[in-house]
Amino acid sequence: ISLKNYNTFGISVYAKRFISVDSVYQLQQLLKIEKDIFLISGGSNMLLTKDIENLVLHINIKGVSIDREDDNTVYITVNAGENWHEFVVWCVSNNFGGIENLSLIPGNVGTCPIQNIGAYGVEVKDTITMVEAIEIESQRLVSFSNDECNFGYRNSIFKNEVKGKYIITSVSFKLTKNKHQLNTFYGAIETELTSKEIKKPTLKNISDAVIAIRKSKLPDPKEIGNSGSFFKNPVVSITQFLEIQKEYPTVPSYLVSDTEIKIPAGWLIEQAGFKGKRFGNYGVHEKQALVLVNYGNATGIEIYQLAKKIQNTILRKFSVVLEIEVNVF
Ligand code: EPU
Repeated sequence: ISLKNYNTFGISVYAKRFISVDSVYQLQQLLKIEKDIFLISGGSNMLLTKDIENLVLHINIKGVSIDREDDNTVYITVNAGENWHEFVVWCVSNNFGGIENLSLIPGNVGTCPIQNIGAYGVEVKDTITMVEAIEIESQRLVSFSNDECNFGYRNSIFKNEVKGKYIITSVSFKLTKNKHQLNTFYGAIETELTSKEIKKPTLKNISDAVIAIRKSKLPDPKEIGNSGSFFKNPVVSITQFLEIQKEYPTVPSYLVSDTEIKIPAGWLIEQAGFKGKRFGNYGVHEKQALVLVNYGNATGIEIYQLAKKIQNTILRKFSVVLEIEVNVF
């Protein structure tokens, strides 16, 4: 079958064999006989460049349950195949706080810990208590505590030490019920709330603000194929940053530590002249240069080659290494 509808980049590569599983038990049974698998979940953080020879396994395990709650906290376990944004909307409508800034991020709950999704001052790691996963080799169900996940900026143990060894089946969250810790200090959110004259924002106000900001900058994968930020924002030394700033006084930045600073990759790519550039069926998004887009029938190879070209240009122009954030297969 074509995997076009299973990846948000909308790349049409073919899978010889495809199976969708909807329970942990089914998954364990399957792994007893089949270990050479290619996992696909929401397909929102991958670039497929060739047909898949191994069995493509679509994780479709659904279900949300409230484990326990007290006056100010609710503990929820969500199965891997639930859509991330639908879960956020459900939390906001129940007044469960903590992930409202992560509204409208494409993908499923089961993949949110892998790259520790983050936006507008919040990372999902701040609300995760546990990740449950099946070890492919033994089919054992294993739990990873928040600490054991080794979360970092767009990073976790699942991208490193245990990469390819586990299949995440559920994620548990700890959310607030009343004393919410709102994150509204991100410039664009403040602007959005002020423009609506909202002084005491609710979770819904913040979620709506984030949705409005994302819609204004990021392409909707249903209309234009994409995988969100294609690169990570690079971290450079302060010394190197000052060099860049000499030439480009308005370079935006976020301090990471006493010696390191993060520069938005979107800014670098825009300075290099790629923003809004279209090459036939693919290109660089016109409103956010960090996002590569598929206008129709682009191949994964074409998009990968564009990414390489951007990396080379940024390296020559700024001596900065841009790291690809999306998983390229
Ligand atoms: N900028 C430009 N040109 C561009 C894009 C951005 O100059 O084409 C500048 C902006 O003016 C701003 C700065 O870069 O000063 C930051 O831009 P923005 O607020 O859009 O955020 P970002 O750093 O580009 C990161 C995440 C996004 C997340 C936003 C908001 C990464 C790799 N990306 O982007 O995450 O939504 O912050 O928090 O960290 C994703 O991972 O898929 C993703 C969309």
